[in-house]
This record gives sequence, structure tokens and C-alpha cells, in this order.
Amino acid sequence: MTAVTPATSATPAPRTRPRGEERELLKLLALAGAHHTPAVLTSGELGRRLGVSQQAADRYLVALEKRGLLTRQFAARRQRITLTPPALELLRADYHVYRRIFEGPASMRFSGVVTSGLGEGRYYLSQPGYVVQFSERLGYAPYPGTLNVKLRPEDLARVSSVRGWNGLRIDGFQAAGRTFGGATCHAARLSGRPCHLIVPDRTSHQDVVEFVAPEFLREALHLKDGDPLDVEIQEA
Ligand code: CDP
Repeated sequence: MTAVTPATSATPAPRTRPRGEERELLKLLALAGAHHTPAVLTSGELGRRLGVSQQAADRYLVALEKRGLLTRQFAARRQRITLTPPALELLRADYHVYRRIFEGPASMRFSGVVTSGLGEGRYYLSQPGYVVQFSERLGYAPYPGTLNVKLRPEDLARVSSVRGWNGLRIDGFQAAGRTFGGATCHAARLSGRPCHLIVPDRTSHQDVVEFVAPEFLREALHLKDGDPLDVEIQEA
């Protein structure tokens, strides 16, 4: 879990989620491979493919560029359009909705090794703002701490796709002058023991995932740092 600094500005955030034709345009560009190689296209061509005028296609491109979802480089009458990582994240969110509709809840298995953090889990899990929500939404008051599992490099991308899954929400809150971040939880089993994977909205960890459980897992499973663990997670 990570504490985040409070927002300093009261101005409303710009609308970042494109709708309608703008979203269709992102799909079209991704199909043209613009997330790895710049797509060389005119606004006229894009407009025709979208069924709108060249002017409208140009407006959508400008709006998407302003929102940081694509970049454009101009050469002669053509433009080289590249989709940015946030654009791909938006498309991935759509993908997860369709995956859920057509394939049902997802599940995943991977393995990792037990590792120690900085002792922050105990501090966060002792915050009443989290304890109340965990108790209500997970159905138990978690042991005060998170068990950290270090992932194998080959599992990083697959496990990070869990960010698109449906899960149990824990809302962020303010307490004692700080902001505590929100998170999403997914039902899990660690070597068969029921627990929850907790995915903080913001984290600096790339290769470590954290679990909460009703019990002290190190004791229940006789775990020490470096021990291998089998993990199973299930979408809500
Ligand atoms: O030091 P670290 O950040 O890893 O730990 P923590 O989140 O403060 O949790 C305290 C200790 O309890 C650590 O050794 C965790 O691995 C362990 N733990 C556990 O065994 N079972 C849990 N359900 C939660 C934490």
C-alpha cells in the first residue's frame, strides 16, 4: 500500500477517457499497429475509414494528442501517428470488459518467492480507514501486514494484466493530514490458503505482489524469505 500526497489543485481534471468516434479512432490506429510502429496516414484516410469528414478526423486527432493518447510527426502531407501507453491502457480496459462478457471471470496461477518489505504493511493495515473496509468487503479483519511475494521476470506482464480485472474495491481516504491510496482486491490462495491479492492504485513495486489474509501466513505455512509459493487468483 502506498500513501499519496494530497492533490494541490482544485481545478477539475480534464476528461481523459475519449468516447464514441475518438475511441473508434484509437482502435483503428491500434489495428494498424500504431502502438509499436508509427502509422502513416492522412486525416482524410482516417475520416473515410471512420465514416466521418477529414475535418472531424483531424479534430479527434488533435483532441487525442492533447490528452497524451497519441503523438504526431508531420512529413509532406502525411503524418506519422504513434499511440502512447495510456492509449493502450484504455483499449486494454475495453478488452477486459469484453473478455468478461464472453469468457466469464478470469483466473490465474503463478509462483514466486516470499520476500520481506520495509515493514510498511503493518502500518497501513492498522489504519482504521482500511481495517473497516477490509472487514466489510473481504469478510474478515486481516492480520496486520501484507505478505510480499516476488514474481519471476517471465510472469511480470501476465500478472500485471490483473489491473484490468473486476475486483473488490478499497477506497482511498484522508486521515491525520495524509492521503491513503485506494486498492483493488482479488480472492486468492497461497499454497491452498484463502487470502486476497491486493493491488494498490499506485505503487512503486514492479516485481512484488502483496497479500492480505485472516491469519499470520508465515506461521500457518511455515514460511521464511526465499521460500517458493504457488499462487492462484480469481476474478470477482
Ligand atoms: O516487512 P513487510 O513489509 O514485509 O511486512 P508487513 O506488511 O509489515 O507484515 C509483517 C510481517 O507479517 C511480514 O513478515 C509479513 O510477511 C508477515 N505477514 C504474514 O505472514 N501474513 C499476513 N497475512 C500478513 C503479513
